[in-house]
Amino acid sequence: MSKAENLERQYVLRSWAVQGTMPYDEIVGGKGCWFWDKNGKKYLDFSSQWINTNIGHQHPKVVEAIKEQAEKLCFIAPNFGHESRGLLAEQIVKVTPGDLNKVFFTLGGGESNDNAINLVRQVTGRYKVMSRYRSYHGSTLGGLSISGEPRRLPAEPLMPGIIRFFDPYCYRCSFGKSYPGCGIECAEHIREIMLYENPESIAALFLEPVTGTNGVFVPPKEYLPRVREICDEFGVLLVADEVMSGWGRTGKWFGVDNWDVVPDVMTMAKGVTQGYVPLGAIVVNQKLADHYDDKMFWCGLTYSGHPLACAAGVATVKIYEEENLIENSARMGEKLSSGLKRLKDKHPSVGDVRSIGLFSSIELVKDRETREPLAPWNGPDPGIMAKINHCLRDKGVYVYIRWNYLFIAPPLSINEEELNFGLEAVDQCLELADQEIQA
Ligand SMILES: Cc1ncc(COP(=O)(O)O)c(C=O)c1O
Repeated sequence: MSKAENLERQYVLRSWAVQGTMPYDEIVGGKGCWFWDKNGKKYLDFSSQWINTNIGHQHPKVVEAIKEQAEKLCFIAPNFGHESRGLLAEQIVKVTPGDLNKVFFTLGGGESNDNAINLVRQVTGRYKVMSRYRSYHGSTLGGLSISGEPRRLPAEPLMPGIIRFFDPYCYRCSFGKSYPGCGIECAEHIREIMLYENPESIAALFLEPVTGTNGVFVPPKEYLPRVREICDEFGVLLVADEVMSGWGRTGKWFGVDNWDVVPDVMTMAKGVTQGYVPLGAIVVNQKLADHYDDKMFWCGLTYSGHPLACAAGVATVKIYEEENLIENSARMGEKLSSGLKRLKDKHPSVGDVRSIGLFSSIELVKDRETREPLAPWNGPDPGIMAKINHCLRDKGVYVYIRWNYLFIAPPLSINEEELNFGLEAVDQCLELADQEIQA
């Protein structure tokens, strides 16, 4: 056991893992779409380290910007000003849609959602919040409260006043329907739930425009515009959690841009600095911004608008533009989509593939007719997903795997050769899944 492993095993609690059995892989470097371990083995990062490192690892311009800022000023409290905080806010306002015009900085996605819950309650004077079952909004208590997926369960009872609704998961439609011809019931039932709950008690509806870590659900084109209409009918604020779907991931700046929907509030993190320095943000529309002109904004963080994080953000946003990464995401996304369709045609274990831009998942099943998942929802893995994971690692490709899903979401800077390298490895490793279901 290396010294680093020994220290981590002895002293560190690591995220979302049974500590005693969690594998330990020591990573020592990265560049672009690749990272490597201490033995020099290189991996293609086919999931952007949990759908985050959008411009790739160790971009020299961002590294330089962080260094420059560190030499000038590492920290100043939020009640003082510094240059990069305003610059980054201006850049964010320029690329977010409609009148999303003012930014509150946080440290990550969960914190953004937590503070957004606080904000929508303050502004509306209402307390209930709606969100979806197959959703993840962070591990803060507010973030977990509005998450629907199983990570919330060990923390229950959570915040009161959370109302959940079903997801636009067409492959496993909760209403037993198929698109088109379903009347977009996954949107329509929201209206009915609002009526039962007393719409005047509902502050906001939170959703991921494209669901991320629960399976990548790309909603039908009618879905988000209809949800927007329903929210407007009852004065419920629409909050788009763009932590995963934002910053070019879907081939547009933000997930909502695919359907020309403008939320009242957008929450974000990940792609804005892609984790080089942690940063999250809440962007609010003009009306909400104006609300606070003569009222106290009851949200605050010691590190809000941290100079190092903002400097990293300013440099990152410039790179999206200079290197045409949003366009590349859309272009390479088409190639990814065709590659995924080929995998589906070839492998009987592939039940469904879903993608938009460079945001995709492969859903594995035991049987295409019954659609029984190859590994059960909320685990444990019967072993096959671990086998696929090892196979991919052997071939030098890192893919984020959860339950029966493989998430293919490489950095937006990926080129065709790298994409094909990754897809070829996935193709070969899916043979294991095929053998499993044919055994
Ligand atoms: C949609 C969404 N919201 C919020 C979060 C939480 O972000 P963080 O881990 O930065 O708190 C995540 C994390 O994956 C996410 O996917």
